[in-house]
Amino acid sequence: MANLARVSHLYKFHAIDGTRQPVLSDVGFEVGGGEFVCIMGPSGSGKSTLLQLLSGLDEADGGSIELAGKSLADQSDRERTLLRRRTIGHVFQFFNLLPNLTVLENVALPLAIAGVRVAEQAAPVEKLLARFGLAHKHQAFPHQLSGGEMQRVSIARALAGGQPLLLCDEPTGNLSQKAGLEVMQLLRETVEQDHRSVLLVTHNPRDATFADRILFLVDGNLRDEQGLRGPGISVERVHQALSALSI
Ligand SMILES: Nc1ncnc2c1ncn2[C@@H]1O[C@H](COP(=O)(O)OP(=O)(O)O)[C@@H](O)[C@H]1O
Ligand SMILES: [Mg+2]
Repeated sequence: MANLARVSHLYKFHAIDGTRQPVLSDVGFEVGGGEFVCIMGPSGSGKSTLLQLLSGLDEADGGSIELAGKSLADQSDRERTLLRRRTIGHVFQFFNLLPNLTVLENVALPLAIAGVRVAEQAAPVEKLLARFGLAHKHQAFPHQLSGGEMQRVSIARALAGGQPLLLCDEPTGNLSQKAGLEVMQLLRETVEQDHRSVLLVTHNPRDATFADRILFLVDGNLRDEQGLRGPGISVERVHQALSALSI
């Protein structure tokens, strides 16, 4: 399967406590088409930094990133922005829904941005909302929803955008156990049914069990020595791997 993301020899330094310290050090991995990859690491290990480099919110200090087979370094600023916009959808810990738009309008946003006419936005969006158990909420505003509902809206929005790769940063970090489980099941479903790829970063072992592969970010290095392959890895195996790595 063609790689949707390929990261090689990636470095990122941050000024921490007044000194320049490596947050990511020679990090490399790939995410294949239709693959669900989880990167686990404790708080402060650089997970969000890594996703920000992929999504272009921050710049690497070394190494390279390819999206959909194209190296970001070879592109003009404009091409790079378009490549990212076409390739990457986002799911955030705090949902990032627009508060003044309804559920329907939030999910339709990527279609509006892509220039789809208003009359043609409703049908695909209503279909996604029905699938996600949110049809009755289509006219609600984000503040009228539970956390689990907000996250389902944000996954529906990411699917509406049609990008093949979803970057998910602690998507259950702000949810109850039950709502978090539902969100993880939906993410797995988008891999199985919609053939999207998911790159999940989390410190939650339960969430990691939904992935095809689990990698560990420890002291800036990415480790794959545990050979954890899924889906359906037991949560005990994930805990064992974490304690073997002392994280
Ligand atoms: N923009 C920034 N400027 C300086 N330090 C940062 C910045 N972003 C993150 N850091 C530091 O880099 C380290 C990794 O942060 P982060 O990627 O947010 O970790 P995680 O998402 O795994 O919790 C932390 O020590 C954090 O304080
Ligand atoms: Mg983070």
